[in-house]
Amino acid sequence: MNISPHSAKLLEVIRLGHPTLRDVAEPVPEDWFSSARLMDLGRDMIRTMIEENGVGLAAPQVAESLRLFAYWVPETEDEAEIPPTVLVNPEIRPIGEDFEEGWEGCLSIPGLRGLVPRHRRIKVKARRVDGEPVSLTADGFQARVIQHEHDHLDGVVFLDRMTNIHSLAFEPEWERYILADESDDP
Ligand code: NI
Repeated sequence: MNISPHSAKLLEVIRLGHPTLRDVAEPVPEDWFSSARLMDLGRDMIRTMIEENGVGLAAPQVAESLRLFAYWVPETEDEAEIPPTVLVNPEIRPIGEDFEEGWEGCLSIPGLRGLVPRHRRIKVKARRVDGEPVSLTADGFQARVIQHEHDHLDGVVFLDRMTNIHSLAFEPEWERYILADESDDP
């Protein structure tokens, strides 16, 4: 499957307060796989995610109450990039009992960052837009992104998952006071 962000449309990202963000999204029907409608939506979501500088975007965030999301993981010192991917009708289950706190933001809640506990490792089963089954194990940041996006399919946002609302910060202040402080640590 060839996903070219250049032929895709930029979609409007809805923000917290729009009722669709709080709905439980519907599964993508079986006869939609490989359709132009679903393939185009996937492409448009990838383009929108990249142009908005996000690492994930769920269909409800573009006012489509359907169970699919796009995500990608930038290259780090330890891990290779996971290129932009669309997962349809995903099901996730945790592996083990380990939780990990990490910083999250959301294109539907612009400008804010907060610490969110997530399962450290998960198993994911889903389909591609062409219907091909996908099965993967994710940990660390990838597991975090997938859990965040999967939550959107159930009308849940990262604020709902925060166990300590005191960590909530605006991005410039987060970068100045928190990120800088963390990178000072050995
Ligand atoms: Ni989000």
